Amino acid sequence: MLKYTVLVLLIGIPKLLLQAQMSYEAIFVSVTSEENSKPFDLSNLRLIGRERILNGTFEILEDLDDEHFQISVEIYTNPARDGNYKLLPMSVPRQGVCTFFKKYGFYFRDCIKNGINTDLFLNTTSCLFPKGHYYLKNVTINVQNWPKIMQRGLCRHIAFFYKNNVPMGSYNLTSSIEDRAPNFNLRPL
Ligand SMILES: *[C@@H]1O[C@H](CO)[C@@H](O)[C@H](O)[C@H]1NC(C)=O
Ligand SMILES: *[C@@H]1O[C@H](CO)[C@@H](O)[C@H](O)[C@H]1NC(C)=O
Ligand SMILES: *[C@@H]1O[C@H](CO)[C@@H](O)[C@H](O)[C@H]1NC(C)=O
Ligand SMILES: *[C@@H]1O[C@H](CO)[C@@H](O)[C@H](O)[C@H]1NC(C)=O
Repeated sequence: MLKYTVLVLLIGIPKLLLQAQMSYEAIFVSVTSEENSKPFDLSNLRLIGRERILNGTFEILEDLDDEHFQISVEIYTNPARDGNYKLLPMSVPRQGVCTFFKKYGFYFRDCIKNGINTDLFLNTTSCLFPKGHYYLKNVTINVQNWPKIMQRGLCRHIAFFYKNNVPMGSYNLTSSIEDRAPNFNLRPL
């Protein structure tokens, strides 16, 4: 009887709703960089309030194109939250910044929308990150396109930048992966 009820319940839930709900959320913990890192100056970004919203201004210190600038990314996890980070086998190998953005840009666009959260506009055709000062406001992490299953605890993405394959600097983005508060506030679809 119980089995049958569960089945009916599952069938009764529209597919869209199941896809839309992640069992976890990710909250900013810190954004740091090694000293004198280029090509970004992130020193005027702040995390604000209980919700740790990313806000402020940042600078792109020179025009970044796919030919001369490369990025690689490593991802670490720290379930115990004790600072003992373990490298995950899902790194992004070194590649042109624009090639990277074309492949993974949706992760950023899920969180940062031009005209809403930033005035930086990235043209994926010409694919140049123009030098300049930009704002970020009200940015939170949207995990809709992240893996379905994530280990709870601290998660750290490290982005390494290179100019003509010479290291320029690195940036750590640390987030906290937590159970998402259940949301029974079902909206009509
Ligand atoms: C970035 O993370 C790595 C790996 O956890 C750590 O060794 C390094 O000290 C961090 N750097 C900064 C600037 O936070
Ligand atoms: C958020 O950043 C914007 C743009 O730099 C700034 O105008 C605003 O004062 C910041 N808000 C807070 C609460 O710091
Ligand atoms: C994007 O760049 C291409 C090539 O330089 C250009 O033709 C196009 O107008 C640009 N699009 C926008 C929206 O700026
Ligand atoms: C900030 O973003 C959230 C959703 O990410 C939205 O609900 C809220 O209205 C925004 N606040 C401001 C001041 O733009």
